[in-house]
Amino acid sequence: MTQPVCETLKNPERWFEKAKELTPEKMKAALDAALLRIDHGMELYKGGVFPSATTDPLYIYPETENKGWTEGFWSGMLWLAYQLTGQQKYRTAAEETVASFIDRMDKQINVHFHDMGFLYGLSCVMAYEITGDERAKEYALKSADNLADRFQEKGQFIQAWGEMNAPDNYRLIIDCLMNLPLLFWATEQTGKQRYTEIAKIHLDTTLETIIRPDGTTFHTFFFDPETGARAKGVTAQGYADDSCWARGQSWAVYGLMMDFERMGDYSKLPYWYSVTNVFLNRSPSDLIAYWDLIFTDGSGHPRDTSASAIAACGLMRAKPEFENYELYQAAAKALICSLIDNYTTAQGEESTALLSDGICHWKRVPTPEGTIFGDYYYLEALAKYIKPDVILFR
Ligand code: GLY
Repeated sequence: MTQPVCETLKNPERWFEKAKELTPEKMKAALDAALLRIDHGMELYKGGVFPSATTDPLYIYPETENKGWTEGFWSGMLWLAYQLTGQQKYRTAAEETVASFIDRMDKQINVHFHDMGFLYGLSCVMAYEITGDERAKEYALKSADNLADRFQEKGQFIQAWGEMNAPDNYRLIIDCLMNLPLLFWATEQTGKQRYTEIAKIHLDTTLETIIRPDGTTFHTFFFDPETGARAKGVTAQGYADDSCWARGQSWAVYGLMMDFERMGDYSKLPYWYSVTNVFLNRSPSDLIAYWDLIFTDGSGHPRDTSASAIAACGLMRAKPEFENYELYQAAAKALICSLIDNYTTAQGEESTALLSDGICHWKRVPTPEGTIFGDYYYLEALAKYIKPDVILFR
């Protein structure tokens, strides 16, 4: 395995300077503002209705059924709100979403793709870990089976999307790093090593294919379905095949951190340093990433606040023995501080989004929007600062 180069972190002072502004009072005020928007959302999203992946131009999430890849983020936000406040209303609403996820699995509504962690980890695993709900555990394990069943021997990876073996979908994607914790959790619960073995093999294949020698990343990587030979990196949501999609890079910053932590094995940490330093070094003047890392100030392109929120969650989990530990902690705080200062107030009173200025899929909607996953990770970071023992899907 040839490791990518690791850039030296540029301009470290800016991270330390901004981090100083994230006081406990500021975090508390940000949390209170976030809870108000969640309360507002709870009036709309209930009884099996969820917020969509992205907002309308007024920063209100249209209502959707539980059938996509993002509905678990709403469940996760409710579980966080319950733990942060102890208020039963959040637990009741979260449990209602768990019932919806059970129904979705029973009816087999779009449950055969890789995002089982985002869906069932943030709903059913959280429910089990927080309340001991055995039925939620049972359905989380079913979702882990669905994820593990997507493993392809030829190529040694988990196929993200589409019909198994279909040549136009015979690929892994960087986002899947975030779903591997479901497999580690399933081994923990059942003692069955198959889940962990698949996760580890997929992780190694991802490290070898999707991270370029300079520490930037491809979004997806194709294999030959006949031979399993490695074919080529291709983007799905980035600007170009050879650019670096910001959220993809941040999925790696957080996903690798969670996966190494779960394995208790940091032998491949140099990959994390490489992708993380690339992400931080391309942060613009207000620190919040443009939607693809080839863009910066003056490009006229939008940011993607979700990418910076996700990266902050990964940075927070750096360990004291890591190189540049203090800087990574400062960077996490600085990112959250800039999100609070610059991206939580553009929305109107009626908004149900916590953050403005996300981008889900620029080629489909090239204008700033709220993203439910950006909101989730922003809230997760605040939750972890305010209540360090908060239970997360990890
Ligand atoms: N495909 C998941 C994402 O938009 O990050």
